[in-house]
Amino acid sequence: MVSDMVSDMAQTRLATVTAPNDLESYWLPFTPNRSFKRSPRLIVRAKDMHYYSADNRAVLDGAAGLWCTNAGHNRDPIVAAIKRAAEQLDYSPAFQFAHPAAFELAGRVAALAPGDLNRVFFCNSGSEAVDTALKIALAYHNVRGQGSRTRLIGRERGYHGVGFGGISVGGIVNNRKFFGSLLTGVDHLPATYSREHQAFTKGEPQWGAHFADELERLVTLHDASTIAAVVVEPMAGSTGVLPPPQGYLQRLRAICDRHGILLIFDEVITGFGRLGYSFAAERYGVVPDLITFAKGITSGAVPMGGVIARDGIYEAFMHGPEHVVELFHGYTYSAHPLACAAGLATLGLYRDEKLFARAKALEPRFADAAMTLKSLPNVLDIRSVGLAAGIDLASRAGAPGLRTYQVMERAFQEEGVMVRAAGETIALSPPLIASEAQIDEIFDKVGRAIKAVA
Ligand SMILES: Cc1ncc(COP(=O)(O)O)c(C=O)c1O
Repeated sequence: MVSDMVSDMAQTRLATVTAPNDLESYWLPFTPNRSFKRSPRLIVRAKDMHYYSADNRAVLDGAAGLWCTNAGHNRDPIVAAIKRAAEQLDYSPAFQFAHPAAFELAGRVAALAPGDLNRVFFCNSGSEAVDTALKIALAYHNVRGQGSRTRLIGRERGYHGVGFGGISVGGIVNNRKFFGSLLTGVDHLPATYSREHQAFTKGEPQWGAHFADELERLVTLHDASTIAAVVVEPMAGSTGVLPPPQGYLQRLRAICDRHGILLIFDEVITGFGRLGYSFAAERYGVVPDLITFAKGITSGAVPMGGVIARDGIYEAFMHGPEHVVELFHGYTYSAHPLACAAGLATLGLYRDEKLFARAKALEPRFADAAMTLKSLPNVLDIRSVGLAAGIDLASRAGAPGLRTYQVMERAFQEEGVMVRAAGETIALSPPLIASEAQIDEIFDKVGRAIKAVA
């Protein structure tokens, strides 16, 4: 009886909650909740290059959502594929069973990846992809009898999501300092950015390859026999678009090779066309041992992430009795049917519309447009690579991050453009379908917002 009453009450509550007229229940991620709730930025629909706000204003998407809608918004083939998949197969168990689209998508992703990066493990986000890659790296050494290789090396200013693995190898103090002792046995390379030597560079700066040699120092300090893997974003996105110095990634690769250390490229942002190639690995001619991906795989339409491993890594696990699990890792929603359908349709769009080549062709125009903001008030540096740009603004005295937050707000509310405020940087990364006119429009609007909050 009591439980009947409880469920009646719950039913009544459910029936009354029909519209978001109460903003209090939702605890927004990575968002200042109180200021958001005072002046919400509500988005209700999207198409191609535009979002539409709750008050029905068109907002040009200068950020590809959150670095993910590379094919543009609500593209018909992706929407249709998700609908079809939902009608046909809502879910199939990810462990001990599988469905055909998972194999098809893995094959398509492997075909896009360079070298012998041919084995694809699926998960649901970039954070899970990073933790998966770190676990594969540790387990790989373990199954090969090198279990002393447990140390992981990340980089200052790196962002690798929010799992304990990701924040441990990551290099953003606010993402780490509240959360205890994190993973043990982690060390960090220095960030590759220097305003003094690199300010207002288009593409990869000439200065800074020597930062890779810090890995040799860490090897000397810890000994290679204790180091499992190095993980870096080829272009650090979340801390402000930091393209790698020329030759830096090649040097990292060479040092890793010398010492039997796995090299992981976190391509959650750089994958699927952001830098004009399938993966940044291709742009830089460096084949890592593991690549993480997410975001652009489904153009943001359904959550999905994954890890691509070189053949030799996969094969190292394929020993022992055949009825025994080889890697004790996976997620209920690994290779979810809706995500696979969205992924296949998205890769189809990238291919049919040649969107990676389009991004590459647009890069010079995008970089020029970004640099037009150089002389605006408070602009300290502008960087660009592929279809990504970071604009550093001087912080307001005593209020770090406030100016960029105000620019983001102003851009959305008054100028009708979505940008991302990342610390003291305004980050721009439009969908790869952006026209030249829309690129100019994005930077014009951002310029006006920067001036307005000067
Ligand atoms: C390089 C990188 N790795 C990992 C992540 C985490 O992805 P997610 O938010 O899907 O967990 C991100 C997110 O921006 C990222 O940029």
